[in-house]
Amino acid sequence: MLLINKNEKVGRNDPCPCGSGLKYKKCCLGKANTGHTNLKEIYFKKHKIRLKGNKDIEGIKKAGRVALATLDLVETEIRPGISTEKINTLVHEFTVKNNAISAPLNYRGFPKSVCVSINEVICHGIPGERVIKNGDIVNVDVTPILNGYYADVSKTFLVGKPGPNARKIVKVANGSLKRGMSMVLPGNTVGDIGWAIQSYAEGEGCSVVREFVGHGVGFDFHEPPQVPHYGRKGEGIVLVPGMVFTIEPMINLGKSHLRVLKDNWTAVTADGSLSAQFEQTVLVTEEGYESLTPYDV
Ligand code: MF3
Ligand code: CO
Ligand code: CO
Repeated sequence: MLLINKNEKVGRNDPCPCGSGLKYKKCCLGKANTGHTNLKEIYFKKHKIRLKGNKDIEGIKKAGRVALATLDLVETEIRPGISTEKINTLVHEFTVKNNAISAPLNYRGFPKSVCVSINEVICHGIPGERVIKNGDIVNVDVTPILNGYYADVSKTFLVGKPGPNARKIVKVANGSLKRGMSMVLPGNTVGDIGWAIQSYAEGEGCSVVREFVGHGVGFDFHEPPQVPHYGRKGEGIVLVPGMVFTIEPMINLGKSHLRVLKDNWTAVTADGSLSAQFEQTVLVTEEGYESLTPYDV
């Protein structure tokens, strides 16, 4: 997805986006689902963001459980010598067995049911002949659709005995997701998330991929808003309860630049350096956030 930075800033003490004239903290902050406000309409009108209600959240959570179980299955099977095609088969069959649909399959022409991205591949690796080797880092990104609800989650696995560079980039990508998620609470902005990730990852001497961003998710694979993994504090859309989006930082050991292979999908680091990614689907709650695809970071 391409980025549009609208540069909006609504803080706790700023006028509420619902137009009441009250301060945001005295008005809609934390009150998306009470019926006191028309935040749902405002956010749709203004940002095309569809806030989720309790029934939707339960549906996305259930899809999230299937997604996490899929990654658990992959984790038990992934080892040196396994082909990425085999991982695709595992994911596809497990998804179907759980009455879900793999969102990647045929999505804008993507030919497989899962993205498998090894070493210098940043994201959107297409499963096929490539065989995983000892010491590889492998991101597996799954998105099941269950009863119409989407949950999007990925992890980067260390296979066999990884070297220090592999361990480092996986640790920084994991820490980036952790720091991004810690910024999710009503009144913070999308820019706060990006800032937390960028300042940490760059402070570790790594770089943040710009071309791919987190995204709203739940009713569809990719919904507004876009959630860049870089940015400035206080910039961008204000987070409100009921928002569901992914945070999925792609962090490179070298420079941030990328190139897309002739298959039109596989994104690789321009300098050939290692890249790692972790992704969860998070819900903004009244108190902060809840991951709908929770795993420890
Ligand atoms: N799962 C990816 C994401 O996190 C999107 C993959 S699109 C596909 O947004 F077509 F490659 F599957
Ligand atoms: Co995603
Ligand atoms: Co994903």
